[in-house]
Amino acid sequence: MHFFAGGSYLQETKKGLEGIVALDTSISFIDGMQGILKYRGIDIEHLAEMSYETISYLLINGILPGEQELAAYSNRLKSERRINGEMIDIMRVCNYGTEALDSLRTAISCTAHMDHENDNNSLDANKNKAVRLIAKLPTMIAALYRCKSGDFPFQPDETLSHGANFLYMLRGEAPSAIEAEAIEKDFILSAEHELNPSTFALRIAASTLADVYSAIITGLCTLKGPLHGGARRGVMEMLDEVAVPENANNYVLYKLSRKEKIMGFGHRVYRTYDPRSRIFKDMAKRVAKENGDPTWYEVAESLEHVMYREFLDVRGRPIYPNVDFYSAVIYKYLRIPPELATSVFAIGRVSGWTAHCFEQYADNRVIRPRAHYI
Ligand SMILES: CC(C)(COP(=O)(O)OP(=O)(O)OC[C@H]1O[C@@H](n2cnc3c(N)ncnc32)[C@H](O)[C@@H]1OP(=O)(O)O)[C@@H](O)C(=O)NCCC(=O)NCCS
Repeated sequence: MHFFAGGSYLQETKKGLEGIVALDTSISFIDGMQGILKYRGIDIEHLAEMSYETISYLLINGILPGEQELAAYSNRLKSERRINGEMIDIMRVCNYGTEALDSLRTAISCTAHMDHENDNNSLDANKNKAVRLIAKLPTMIAALYRCKSGDFPFQPDETLSHGANFLYMLRGEAPSAIEAEAIEKDFILSAEHELNPSTFALRIAASTLADVYSAIITGLCTLKGPLHGGARRGVMEMLDEVAVPENANNYVLYKLSRKEKIMGFGHRVYRTYDPRSRIFKDMAKRVAKENGDPTWYEVAESLEHVMYREFLDVRGRPIYPNVDFYSAVIYKYLRIPPELATSVFAIGRVSGWTAHCFEQYADNRVIRPRAHYI
């Protein structure tokens, strides 16, 4: 149905903009029917075996780095990991209550104030800002956590990978090889996902020619909600609540009877298994095995089985775990506190966000849809 408003014919409202194609992108591709995800034309299964630094370079620059480019990029990221004493002072003052992301957005704002290129919107300056954000986000989050406990933050360790260094700064000890692999995969699989809500919000901000930091904070605030990135924390809390696999059945039935959402299930685009969930599930199983106590993994598997069965029975179609489900199981085994979960998601996503900023600036038209007046 079309209706007339303000001098032009408008299309029928699509609640939640479902199925609306809002823009062209070369950053990622999703086939929701077949469960395919590609960044810059490369399948996610292949990308998951690379380093986060490689993926970050790919997203921002559009091509995979050669050996020399990767070494140079890696060195730049490592040299930008540190945050200064003023920032740590600010973190002590603006420490968080129940959600670290509330302080992270303040920390990113402060980084903008301290960045001498903040007002320079050239591509070169913006790529420098991207490097600073990607490098500093793990340091900020670990520092926030340490300040919260009244401890001094650990300095970044340049000998460690992006993921391993984050876990080191969080705990003060280097992670095992499999833990380092798990967090690196988490950053890669979380790095980019087309027009998800936070990226769309960020692109709207960028389309007004707001600066990179403002756009990133827009994305970060949108990630917070429990129907988006906040679901990862919700899954961690659910794993604690369910506690043992035998409770999964009653938990799901109770929630569904009250028409409550079960965190970590369902997706607007995927009508089959999310390819990222498959990789996360396999990784979670391996981490659980190394840990020696598979309970959280088994609880998650039971929840998955019950959800599949209940949705198929009642609605005639199954529901699958999304990206937040088995990643949350991994966070449990990595001892990442739940209040940090959404912020840790942002460590990976910041590469995709900055890539979308640049794509928007490069071919901009302000994003301004219409509303149906009732
Ligand atoms: C991801 C999500 C927001 C997609 O939303 P959407 O495309 O708008 O899908 P809808 O919420 O309209 O879901 C369609 C139906 O399935 C139900 N449903 C979807 N996900 C569900 C879940 N996780 N638990 C229980 N029911 C769910 C909805 O209640 C709705 O039922 P209705 O037709 O009776 O109203 C939604 O699946 C959800 O809220 N999931 C839980 C939160 C989550 O994990 N978010 C992370 C996303 S990556």
